[in-house]
Amino acid sequence: MAKSHAPIALITLVKLLVLFFVMTMMGGLDGQILGPKETHMVFYLQDWETGNATSVPVAGTNGTLSSVLNFGTIMVVDDAVTDGPDRQSKQVGRAQGIYVNSALDGSDLHLLFSVVFTNEKYNGSTLEIQGADRFFLKYREVSVVAGTGLFRYAQGHAVLETVYLDLPTLNAVIKFNVTVHHY
Ligand SMILES: *[C@@H]1O[C@H](CO)[C@@H](O)[C@H](O)[C@H]1NC(C)=O
Ligand SMILES: *[C@@H]1O[C@H](CO)[C@@H](O)[C@H](O)[C@H]1NC(C)=O
Ligand SMILES: *[C@@H]1O[C@H](CO)[C@@H](O)[C@H](O)[C@H]1NC(C)=O
Ligand SMILES: *[C@@H]1O[C@H](CO)[C@@H](O)[C@H](O)[C@H]1NC(C)=O
Repeated sequence: MAKSHAPIALITLVKLLVLFFVMTMMGGLDGQILGPKETHMVFYLQDWETGNATSVPVAGTNGTLSSVLNFGTIMVVDDAVTDGPDRQSKQVGRAQGIYVNSALDGSDLHLLFSVVFTNEKYNGSTLEIQGADRFFLKYREVSVVAGTGLFRYAQGHAVLETVYLDLPTLNAVIKFNVTVHHY
């Protein structure tokens, strides 16, 4: 009796393998069946207001002379995104968009920008960052609300830490530790 079961078991196994192979090949179903992918990455935002500034105030209570530390100031950024904390580290993308000081006491920056990747791994893909950057905290968390390219349908979060800050010039380097789910 046991003998006759062996071929059935083998055929079932082969069927399952074929089914799994077909499912894996069908990219569209990939995510639904196997669930979203999780990607972790760490990068640094080079937010410089002086010396080849990439972050400029465009409006606020004192016009273009407004300080990022005051409520109401809107900054436009095209910050280098690097793989290390040093400004000369390898560039992996740009952070392009705005942030707005949106706390009456000046303690919060509302971030709203795209990270546009230019490195080999993620070239052309983007992540959309949005959230409350309560920059006086050692660690704070903002949302990754969407993405494009490799990061279509992305959702996740980034833990931010200021690794360099010079108050007189308002130059800063912010570490982003990102976790995203995407298909
Ligand atoms: C600004 O950019 C120029 C040209 O790339 C460079 O020579 C100069 O050293 C930079 N200045 C600073 C402060 O990084
Ligand atoms: C607005 O800018 C002027 C000119 O730089 C400066 O004297 C003044 O202190 C600024 N006021 C505020 C509230 O930042
Ligand atoms: C990224 O893509 C652009 C446009 O397709 C291309 O010119 C560039 O060489 C690529 N960069 C890398 C690092 O692959
Ligand atoms: C990023 O955060 C994770 C926890 O979410 C931690 O395990 C990891 O060490 C962090 N990476 C860096 C480079 O700080």
